[in-house]
Amino acid sequence: MSSSSPSRSMIKDVFRERFLELLGSEEEYERFVETILRPQRKSFRVNSLKVEDEKALVEGIASKGLCVQRVPWCEGAYFVEYQEGTRTDLGNLFEHFLGQIYVQEATSLLPPLVLDVPENVGDDFRVLDVAAAPGSKTTQLGALMKGKGIIVANELDYKRLGPLKLNLERSGLCNIVITHGDGTRIEGEEVYDRIMLDAPCSGSGVIRKSPGTLKVYNPKRLRQVQHLQLKLLRRAFALLKKGGILVYSTCSLDPEENELCIQKFLEEEKGVELLDAKIPNIVLSHKVRSFDGVDVLPEISECTMRVWPQDNDTNGFFVAKLRKVEE
Ligand SMILES: C[S@@+](CC[C@H](N)C(=O)[O-])C[C@H]1O[C@@H](n2cnc3c(N)ncnc32)[C@H](O)[C@@H]1O
Repeated sequence: MSSSSPSRSMIKDVFRERFLELLGSEEEYERFVETILRPQRKSFRVNSLKVEDEKALVEGIASKGLCVQRVPWCEGAYFVEYQEGTRTDLGNLFEHFLGQIYVQEATSLLPPLVLDVPENVGDDFRVLDVAAAPGSKTTQLGALMKGKGIIVANELDYKRLGPLKLNLERSGLCNIVITHGDGTRIEGEEVYDRIMLDAPCSGSGVIRKSPGTLKVYNPKRLRQVQHLQLKLLRRAFALLKKGGILVYSTCSLDPEENELCIQKFLEEEKGVELLDAKIPNIVLSHKVRSFDGVDVLPEISECTMRVWPQDNDTNGFFVAKLRKVEE
């Protein structure tokens, strides 16, 4: 069996029990499994820093044998399907090499949309991307900021700095500083207007992209993962200016990394307000209201975005939006 064709036999009992509980019925669980066993839908974002005529660009791509359809929740983003008999991978398109498009999964587009980047960013507007490689969200933020202000793109893994640098260059971004370090140890207090924490996670939302995750799925490891996520969250929040906004996201569907992580953070941290992270035109269902004997605060279930793969034919994803209150 190739790693790109997962099957039901790869699903462990512990995975089934957990997601059956979260989804509440056999029927919904079936819809979920049927979706995650299919390959991920491809999508791209038009880079507004390099493209003036989006319509012409998209028509040009469609003429190469690709069916192109808007992503409902993100302007300038498109799902792509290959027409029968053709096979032009997005990564082989000239438009990709020229940085006119960025190949990005449709749920990965969500966090920058939630970060409230102002229409006109000033020169002194500072953004930190705590875990930036390979740069999907950094480049999207750069485009939203229209190349103004400054973004610090941090990454711990040395091997991922090369792709990050390449993607930033290809996207035509000049207002970015790359730093190589542990996000839990970035120094400073109240430095940034906006912070993106797209946290390292178990990846249980991206089985369509990495089916091998099913084989190694082990909820016992989640406590450790949550420990790192909370550490990153605490440090990032300290780096946020008063009145500033922090978006926390994961490509996981496990409550420990999402609702329960945010709940722990809210319990321990003063001066934090949970804002509504939801955006229009995306289907959201099956909120987590309690898990493993813990009741989730109603505002966490309501205000965060938990995206199930079966609802929009995407990956699974989670987004929370936090603000540091002004005294
Ligand atoms: C979900 S990926 C980030 C994806 C990226 N935001 C994007 O949109 O392209 C998480 C990243 O966190 C990095 N990472 C893991 N531990 C970290 C730490 N302690 N500090 C900073 N980055 C870390 C991983 O190497 C990985 O590149």
